[in-house]
Amino acid sequence: MLNTVSIIGLGYIGLPTATLLAIRKVRVIGVDISPSIVDTINRGDMHFVEPELDILVRAAVGAGYLRAAMQPEPADAFIIAVPTPLTEGLKPDVRSIETAVKSIAPVLKAGNLVILESTSPVGTTERLAHWLAELRPDLTFPQQAGDTSDIRIAYCPERVMPGRVVHELVSNDRVIGGMTPACSEAAVLLYRWFVQGECVITDVRVAEMCKLTENSFRDVNIAFANELSMICDEQGIDVWELIRLANRHPRVDILKPGCGVGGHCIAVDPWFIVNSAPATAKLIAAARAVNDAKPEWVLQKVDDAINDLKMDGMTASDICIACFGLTFKADIDDLRESPALHITQAIAERHAGKVCVVEPNLDRLPDCIVEKGVVRMDLDAALDQADILVLLVDHAQFKSVSRPHTRRRRIIDTRGVWERKHGQ
Ligand SMILES: NC(=O)c1ccc[n+]([C@@H]2O[C@H](COP(=O)([O-])OP(=O)(O)OC[C@H]3O[C@@H](n4cnc5c(N)ncnc54)[C@H](O)[C@@H]3O)[C@@H](O)[C@H]2O)c1
Repeated sequence: MLNTVSIIGLGYIGLPTATLLAIRKVRVIGVDISPSIVDTINRGDMHFVEPELDILVRAAVGAGYLRAAMQPEPADAFIIAVPTPLTEGLKPDVRSIETAVKSIAPVLKAGNLVILESTSPVGTTERLAHWLAELRPDLTFPQQAGDTSDIRIAYCPERVMPGRVVHELVSNDRVIGGMTPACSEAAVLLYRWFVQGECVITDVRVAEMCKLTENSFRDVNIAFANELSMICDEQGIDVWELIRLANRHPRVDILKPGCGVGGHCIAVDPWFIVNSAPATAKLIAAARAVNDAKPEWVLQKVDDAINDLKMDGMTASDICIACFGLTFKADIDDLRESPALHITQAIAERHAGKVCVVEPNLDRLPDCIVEKGVVRMDLDAALDQADILVLLVDHAQFKSVSRPHTRRRRIIDTRGVWERKHGQ
């Protein structure tokens, strides 16, 4: 029987999950170590931008089904959705999971379900079970008692896309990796409260690897496109035209190149695999290297454009550079690990002239570039005034304008938005 669910970690994943359960009249206790996040949610507000979610959070808190706290309380099920970043040495850092597990151990009771949703290296759910077993010798766990254990444990990864989380949490298929069949069944019953996609059962290690595989697949495919864009540039080939033509092959589907790979998933999760199999995961490691090198390649293109304009008689301090887009992908306000932000910051550090940014998705520019003298400009002014136009993110607003006229100016279009049409 599921009366109360506790979600540990109320970020981009935990808060939407908590809210979708709560609007279906499950009592949800959200737990976060940040007092300001707890206060914000208890006021019915939220601390990040996600379309449609704000209205649902307000409704769930207002109706009394969602409440935030700083300490775990007894519940029927616990979902752990805390961060799993990389250490300085590019190794998975699962300390937040360990802390979260230790915090729920005292309130755990027989019949509870514990689900790990954080993206995790293979083996983490088994470690979680061992940590709990050590802390609660009065209870039985799946590793000792199998299907008859007091506590059910499962790994259920999340694969939502920022900007579409409310929709995708409901409609995406879920991979459910229980430590035993009974654990999987219990997890499916929980997700059935709000998931309309299929809940597909597997074992815990496959479920952990599945999440890492999905993001590594994306990273490798993006790396192929990025590498192709650099090869084509060397050989004077229009990469956008090339990809369009190659994709007419019925079994070829090349992605679009970009200025690098950002965010906290695709640029991070492949390292979890590389770290677990350093001698074998050669392609995955190479893809990371290609994608991580792309921002430096873009910066070289900017330097080349500056030198071109200097050859035309301009001085560096007279050259105005406009960067279009700062976020890690199109049409969101998330700057985490954004290559566009990194490139803009590096341009500001190197360039003697004016650097401006067009970013329609942010209320204010981040301090790290403001303190380097970067100023904000609206789209029309930047298109009109900049000498070098660096398109970094394919925001909808940029797609709606046609390729700027460029008699004297230089365009570095990393996303093919202002692609030169034949004859231009
Ligand atoms: N954001 C995404 O699009 C996405 C998609 C798929 C998977 N994931 C994975 O989901 C996990 C969570 O990601 P996120 O984007 O929601 O992170 P986030 O940083 O937005 O939120 C995590 C929250 O957990 C809280 N927290 C940290 N330690 C805690 C603890 N011991 N107890 C309680 N709260 C704690 C933090 O204060 C924070 O509010 C990560 O493993 C991530 O890789 C994220």
